[in-house]
Amino acid sequence: MKLGSDRLQVLEESQTLAISKKVRELKAAGRDILGLTLGEPDFETPEPIRAAAIQAIQEGFTHYPPVAGIPELRKAVADKFLHTNHIPSSAAQVIISTGAKQSILNAIMVLVNPGEEVILPVPFWVSYAEMVKMAEGKAVLIPSGKEEDFKLSAEKLEAAITPATRMIIFSSPSNPAGAMYSKEELAQLVKVLENHPQVYVLSDEIYEFISYGKPHISIGSFPSIADRVITVNGVSKGFAMTGWRIGFMSAPVWIAELCEKYQGQVTSGACSIAQKAALAAMTQDLGPTHRMTQAFHRRRDLFYDLLKQIPGFTLSPPDGAFYMYPDISSLFGKITPQGKTIHSPMDFSLYLLEEVGVAVVSGEAFGTNDHIRLSFACSVETLVEAADRIKVAVSRLI
Ligand SMILES: Cc1ncc(COP(=O)(O)O)c(C=O)c1O
Repeated sequence: MKLGSDRLQVLEESQTLAISKKVRELKAAGRDILGLTLGEPDFETPEPIRAAAIQAIQEGFTHYPPVAGIPELRKAVADKFLHTNHIPSSAAQVIISTGAKQSILNAIMVLVNPGEEVILPVPFWVSYAEMVKMAEGKAVLIPSGKEEDFKLSAEKLEAAITPATRMIIFSSPSNPAGAMYSKEELAQLVKVLENHPQVYVLSDEIYEFISYGKPHISIGSFPSIADRVITVNGVSKGFAMTGWRIGFMSAPVWIAELCEKYQGQVTSGACSIAQKAALAAMTQDLGPTHRMTQAFHRRRDLFYDLLKQIPGFTLSPPDGAFYMYPDISSLFGKITPQGKTIHSPMDFSLYLLEEVGVAVVSGEAFGTNDHIRLSFACSVETLVEAADRIKVAVSRLI
């Protein structure tokens, strides 16, 4: 007999978290493991942000906050969307949630009916497809390969839309490929969407602050479709605040109100203290964020140079986020010293973990069968050592 509800049977376990669990187990057993799996900055939350949280505790700001978020944070987020991203936004359109993850789930749950289709350009972030399943929607996967820079083209979008399409979800910069849509590319997508007024756009911009030269453009800034765009962002990545669990969205008021209704029955308002910290993040100068991004930039350049020298690795430097996403399919068919044949990214990931103690995430988690994802949100020493070890592991394949 299966344990748990039918709903849970169709959900996949989050692979990144599953691999991290395995890494913790191996570490606990005394193995020296280099973890390149998790998507979180290895920086401390900047001091003024921490100080704001301490002050909130000391002032007794420890009671239930409003479900939609504290008014001053909603206003600060709306101002950020308006002035930085040129998205028409007001405090009434902003909902503060327990992480961008919850903001995304809120939007899917309040907009997608059972059986309705949600377009996901592949590769995509692990959780989108599972959340669509939770809403009993149908994920429509549209692969976009290296030749398209892992980005959805207007032609493919047009071909994917049916009368049942309710939403498209994408991230820019993207996880896992680090791809960023230019203004022109977004304009092409917008042109298609203008002809399909039943399709909502969920734009996940959680990596906005982590990019390496290209301008970040929000699809919500295009007036012709702004009334059906939900823009999600948060403080996790750009302010090294993954543990504080604060994300937010700006959406048309009626969608924001539905999200408030839904969230009110699920989690209530996000942590009051973390909201005060997020308010400091939204209103402080961006110096710490820029310094962190510069460090990621240097690591990106270094790690890219190291990985591209490994036989069997084909990759480009990402435009944003902090992941390398090499195609390793030319290693398929090779045999490990233990006599196992590598057939998939998962086989290769497990081989790296067991053979040389390097943990990566295999591409199946993002809807592709040729890639692995390596996070460079870790020290330069770790990156150099990891690249050395991977090289050794690859050299042992025959
Ligand atoms: C593309 C993408 N969206 C959303 C999230 C979730 O962010 P948060 O920590 O704010 O829930 C992540 C975290 O890894 C992510 O990679």
